[in-house]
Amino acid sequence: MVSGAPSANFSLTDHFGQRVDESSYRGQFLLVYFGFTHCRVVCPRSLAKLSVVLNRLGDAAAAIKPLYITVDPARDTPEVMRGYLERDSPRFTGLTGTDDEIEAAKRSFRVFAERKADAEDPDGYAVPHTAIAYLMGREGEYLAHFTDAVDEDAIVERIGTHIGIAANEDVG
Ligand code: NI
Repeated sequence: MVSGAPSANFSLTDHFGQRVDESSYRGQFLLVYFGFTHCRVVCPRSLAKLSVVLNRLGDAAAAIKPLYITVDPARDTPEVMRGYLERDSPRFTGLTGTDDEIEAAKRSFRVFAERKADAEDPDGYAVPHTAIAYLMGREGEYLAHFTDAVDEDAIVERIGTHIGIAANEDVG
């Protein structure tokens, strides 16, 4: 493991209330994005973009587990995340946890997020966060990341390449 690379180590609760960790998804690629359901601009835009990417990958998307991990566990309960994702981003599974569990997941993926006052939020705060999607391999290893600035075409192509390469390696 390259020092400083994102890694998939987490112990969280999915939006159905089931406990999960990285071993729960072994054998699948992970497409992981961190955010919070009160996010007004960044998360809706990123989740919409990633959903289009997954649609465009067609049958290949079946090999990918899209995960949305909250950085706002105080508000993002499993029920809240399930409602939010089923409405707008049904391909994604939401993950939440205790403060400590979320901090550990953030450290593992090298994600930064910190609560900040926000007068426009009904509860008076927002949680600005790293806006990067992480592609992890079938064994949970880091493969690639996509910043907010990377467009759909480029993400489709790069994910397709990684999945194709991994599929060929599996044959050997
Ligand atoms: Ni967000």
